[in-house]
Amino acid sequence: MVKICCIGAGYVGGPTMAVIALKCPSIEVAVVDISVPRINAWNSDQLPIYEPGLDAVVKQRRGKNLFFSTDVEKHVREADIVFVSVNTPTKTRGLGAGKAADLTYWESAARMIADVSKSDKIVVEKSTVPVKTAEAIEKILTHNSKGIKFQILSNPEFLAEGTAIQDLFNPDRVLIGGRETPEGNKAVQALKDVYAHWVPEDRILTTNLWSAELSKLAANAFLAQRISSVNAMSALCEATGADVTQVSYAVGKDTRIGPKFLNASVGFGGSCFQKDILNLVYICECNGLPEVAEYWKQVIKINDYQKNRFVNRVVSSMFNTVSNKKIAILGFAFKKDTGDTRETPAIDVCKGLLGDKARLSIFDPQVTVDQIQRDLTMKKFDWDHPLHLQPMSPTTVKQVTCVWDTYEATKDAHGICILTEWDEFKNLDFKRIYDNMQKPAFVFDGRNIVNVDQLREIGFIVYSIGKPLDAWLKDMPAVA
Ligand code: NAD
Ligand code: UDX
Repeated sequence: MVKICCIGAGYVGGPTMAVIALKCPSIEVAVVDISVPRINAWNSDQLPIYEPGLDAVVKQRRGKNLFFSTDVEKHVREADIVFVSVNTPTKTRGLGAGKAADLTYWESAARMIADVSKSDKIVVEKSTVPVKTAEAIEKILTHNSKGIKFQILSNPEFLAEGTAIQDLFNPDRVLIGGRETPEGNKAVQALKDVYAHWVPEDRILTTNLWSAELSKLAANAFLAQRISSVNAMSALCEATGADVTQVSYAVGKDTRIGPKFLNASVGFGGSCFQKDILNLVYICECNGLPEVAEYWKQVIKINDYQKNRFVNRVVSSMFNTVSNKKIAILGFAFKKDTGDTRETPAIDVCKGLLGDKARLSIFDPQVTVDQIQRDLTMKKFDWDHPLHLQPMSPTTVKQVTCVWDTYEATKDAHGICILTEWDEFKNLDFKRIYDNMQKPAFVFDGRNIVNVDQLREIGFIVYSIGKPLDAWLKDMPAVA
């Protein structure tokens, strides 16, 4: 029986390994982590992450050929293939701070693998890493190997949260990069054999190591670039009376462009896009390519601009001050169908409104109060460095309440900001909400999910990203 061990039981390691266990009953899969609460949660009825379809997969295989454990060394020692799916956050200090990937977690995993191994192994980069990381990992492993042979493969993950199980069941492609040597080819084939249990062969791509590593950064940069492009257009739409949903529909009808990933929004979030583009920018700079670095930096700049623009629109619409006004925040997760808040645009919007002294009442169906409070007090980039977490400052606590119901969040509020596109926000009783709000009552839709005409009929003043402006908003000071 082939044994697989995955180091890192997070959003990628957990679902990916659960699906491998489901599709390959002849393979024993152990997912290990240094975090005891995380592993306990994987072994309980309340999994540590919310992901549609995940529960069913885990329940089918857990205790059969899928195991979650904190005994990292034992499972690594016994494995034939070791996936490494640990955090690769943005560095917060030292050389490359604010851009470069922090490989501390990866390096310590690699040193541990070298330390405990007693048999040859295939080590698979599942984490997103800077191009050429495999070379560094190879050095760490071979210099500490005591004669054991390691083959390094790059097998980046392309799943998106909220659709992870669907994406893993039916991936557009699986990418495997390896050394172009007989041993490297053998290792690539071994990993191909795992995926071939359910992925059609023509969707399993093999490349050299560096192409695989770079393709992951490139794919995320291209996806984020589409969002920044449509968000840049949304600003121009508001200035000209065009409607961004009509523009993106018309643009996306061109088969060379395609319709996906063209939804204007308050900005993209999530643990990957910003981190991976910053990493790409840093790699370009280190390789003497400042123009290329500058090009990709713009994707992040537009995303920051979009979040700021949203905050400025809220404040300027409400007579240029939100001081002491109650604002309801509907949705805090970075997208629907996940409880993940990493780099969610809601953090920047809430911080912006708190900076103008608003009182916030926040509701998200999947995010806990503790998580929201932590996010609003954490320093930039600290979210993926568990050791840097800061305690909540008492001033922010006073201005923020978290509730478990939309109607409670919006009661007596002056304005509503929709920051996550949860389906339940599409069919709210907006008449009831309007009746219980201060007047004039505002809705700022950062996800373009409400029916603007219907809400205006009820009496709301409505702002929806990239849509023709309400007469009220046109009269307010210009938003930069
Ligand atoms: P995560 O924070 O959810 O999980 C990482 C886990 O690794 C944590 O539970 C942490 O405790 C554990 N860990 C860290 N160091 C360890 C060590 N030395 N030994 C054992 N466990 C250790 O992160 P994630 O979202 O799963 O992302 C993991 C990697 O995958 C990142 O490189 C990310 O960029 C990449 N990725 C993420 C996504 C996504 O949607 N989240 C998609 C594709 C790729
Ligand atoms: C992304 C990539 O899609 C995935 O392939 C990679 O493996 C990890 O990073 P994820 O961050 O989970 O996945 O979600 P994604 O669906 O890409 O959304 C990212 C952000 O972009 C979200 O905040 C989402 O709301 C936003 N978005 C997405 C838009 O604003 N408009 C769109 O049209 C699409």
